[in-house]
Amino acid sequence: MKALILSGGKGTRLRPLTYTTAKQLVPVANKPILGYVLGHIRDAGIKDVGVIISPETGNEVRSYIGSGKQWGIKVTYILQSEPAGLAHAVKTARDFLGDDDFIMYLGDNLLHHGVKDAIKEFNRQSPDALIFLKEVDNPQQFGVAKLDRKGNVVKLIEKPAKPPSNFALVGVYIFTERIHDAIAGIKPSFRGELEITDAIQKLISMGCKVKSEILSGWWLDTGKKDDLLQANTIVLDEYIKRQIKGSVDSRSQVNGRVTVEKGASVINSIVRGPVIIGKGSMIKDSFIGPFTSIGDNVTLLGSSVEHSVILNNAFLSGVERLEDSIVGKNTRVIKNSIRHKALRLMLGDDSTVEV
Ligand code: DAU
Repeated sequence: MKALILSGGKGTRLRPLTYTTAKQLVPVANKPILGYVLGHIRDAGIKDVGVIISPETGNEVRSYIGSGKQWGIKVTYILQSEPAGLAHAVKTARDFLGDDDFIMYLGDNLLHHGVKDAIKEFNRQSPDALIFLKEVDNPQQFGVAKLDRKGNVVKLIEKPAKPPSNFALVGVYIFTERIHDAIAGIKPSFRGELEITDAIQKLISMGCKVKSEILSGWWLDTGKKDDLLQANTIVLDEYIKRQIKGSVDSRSQVNGRVTVEKGASVINSIVRGPVIIGKGSMIKDSFIGPFTSIGDNVTLLGSSVEHSVILNNAFLSGVERLEDSIVGKNTRVIKNSIRHKALRLMLGDDSTVEV
């Protein structure tokens, strides 16, 4: 079995972060989302991996994954000239995929238990397609499955205004080569994309065996700010261990599951886990509350941060209370002295500031 990871697209919903970073490379607990995806592919024993990239962010994705050696996989990059849909991406990868079975994994999806069991299930049932469903509160934002009384999938609809159920399609799919015939028979959707959801619907109408499983464990589509913060919370809660590789001075308190990476220093500060502090960061006279990821080379002076993601090289000074926030790379947030009440801002397009 091969794997196809989709790491193209535009990432409009995560702007402004995605003006400068591919959305699949936005970090969750200081590790790019794509890193989790590649780890899951490795754990499932798949070696031959195609990665869909876009002209805009392809180089960045390439420089993160390289040859794939770090994960013990062999990577083939496949350039998709425009984000014309998930089924279009499969079409673009046709030469790489040949007639092999393959697992398609959306590069911005995070799955609790990886994909090892999913592949086992596919091998056990031998369907033409195996899809995974999860109940969500906002099915309008996903592909949605209509199930019959026995739980069989009877219909699939992409982003329906009136969802027939709460069962969303998870961004992991396993296909045989029959999917290529189905893709050849579909037309672009209302949003102008060749939808994989429509291709699977086509498989059903071609009489192919399409099986579905309800996914166990959590699943996160990290496409928006709140999803990203939620992913950060869940991943920190699940994976962060207490590991102090940097320095913590005697005036500081570091409580619970906190990782302080090499070269990071905590000075006269309180840190309450789960928290990760990246390499070379300096935390001085500050408080860091639970569910916070501080990237590499961040400076925090006299500030208080909780339930937030602070990306590499950010500088925060005198910020009394920051919560539920994402601060981009190289960003500076500086509180004026009391005498200067005016806000001085230099914000990129699509920024959100609540003061
Ligand atoms: O997350 C699950 C959902 O993913 C499913 O429920 C939907 O049925 C499915 O269509 C998809 O919906 P999204 O609107 O969230 O897809 P998005 O445009 O965010 O693209 C998903 C990933 O695929 C993302 O990493 C970007 C990449 N991509 C996307 C497009 C449209 C490509 O590589 N090429 C593309 O042409």
